[in-house]
Amino acid sequence: MTRSLRIAPARCLRGELTVPGDKSISHRAAILGAIAQGETTLRGFLRGEDCLRTLEAVRSLGVGVRETPSGEIRVPGKGIEQLSEPENILDLGNSGTGFRLLAGLVAGRPFLSILTGDASLRRRPMGRIVEPLRQMGARIEGRQGGQHAPLAIRGGDLRGIMYRSPVASAQVKSALLLAGLSADGETWVEEPALSRDHTERMLEGFGVKLRRDGLRVGLLGGQTLTGREVEIPGDFSSSAFFLVGALVLPGSDLVIRQVGVNPTRTGLLDVLLAMGARIAQQNLRGSAGESVADLTVTAGPLHGTTVEGDLIPRLIDEFPVLCVAALFAEGETVIRGAEELRVKEADRIAAMAAGIRALGGEVEELPDGIRIQGRAGPLRGGKLESFGDHRVAMALAIAALAAAGETDVEGAEWIATSFPGFEETLQRVAVR
Ligand code: S3P
Repeated sequence: MTRSLRIAPARCLRGELTVPGDKSISHRAAILGAIAQGETTLRGFLRGEDCLRTLEAVRSLGVGVRETPSGEIRVPGKGIEQLSEPENILDLGNSGTGFRLLAGLVAGRPFLSILTGDASLRRRPMGRIVEPLRQMGARIEGRQGGQHAPLAIRGGDLRGIMYRSPVASAQVKSALLLAGLSADGETWVEEPALSRDHTERMLEGFGVKLRRDGLRVGLLGGQTLTGREVEIPGDFSSSAFFLVGALVLPGSDLVIRQVGVNPTRTGLLDVLLAMGARIAQQNLRGSAGESVADLTVTAGPLHGTTVEGDLIPRLIDEFPVLCVAALFAEGETVIRGAEELRVKEADRIAAMAAGIRALGGEVEELPDGIRIQGRAGPLRGGKLESFGDHRVAMALAIAALAAAGETDVEGAEWIATSFPGFEETLQRVAVR
């Protein structure tokens, strides 16, 4: 059922908050736990719809995941060989990560798996994993020759390959590394720029030996993973909405505790600092191979900037909220080389351009990015559309805090895919 989120203007954001567990890390922790020998305990697992789909899929592969009364997830892994043929279709809902990582995993197992998702996921490109998995020996059928889900995968008998991915995609890289665990010989992936490296870090945490060579990463098939405890940090991508909200509402002062600050994820911090933001990382510490910090942010003037190149994969999910920062900056901001945004949960370039226009901002859509004139005029509230995209919905909600009058963000139910509790947290720190 579609739901709209009403946002009243706020004077500023103040106080302390935490954000839910990291989505990327939660998916990986559930999957690696399921194929490890021995129990894995997950603390801070994201109970967003995407990650719950992955947990359900892991159950369908024969791993009896359970939740403890204190909220931990226990994954009783018995090794990758004990995964069993699912009785039914695996439905990953809206989750590209769940879908692509699990497709890689089951491509290595000697049984039939059929994977599907919601209408948005069925529109997203799957050829990028199907093609290399076929090269490894998996038999895969899908719509349009395997370009789109549903996919039927008959796995097993894989051989390692060296694959040069045309896109910097952590989902592609992770799918192939997971398939590589079941393959004969070594599987290598090279990417054009470094994408998030949570899979590599976590595989090593579970005892897998990886080899790295510049932008290439590889592993030898047949290695055993060992179950462990995983503390999942807060999701930097979720913290980003509050970081930008606090920057653009004068008088704001926020502390966001226990946020994952893996450098392959924090490109937005680099850009905001270059735009003049006042953000500090405190209490930096390591946790399960990932870095965690508390972020403090104080409102202040921003100026426009250009974002392109290797920075793009490091802030790919923060594009919607970076557009909001640009809208409040002095001068022009241009983002380029980000054509991947057109094949996310929605076409995020078109969705944000529509939202900014509806707010009264000045924006030009580029084939691979966007051009935004900051502070071109006052913003007006009204009706905004999420286009079925959780991050678009939250970014527009943040922009609406600074608009004149009330705003309704339509399609706000999608926020639950990555940030259950967003609205409550926002209401708690918003000063009116
Ligand atoms: C993710 C990788 C990125 C990102 C997505 C999560 C992951 O997608 O946009 O939200 O957890 O591996 P791509 O691999 O398609 O770039």
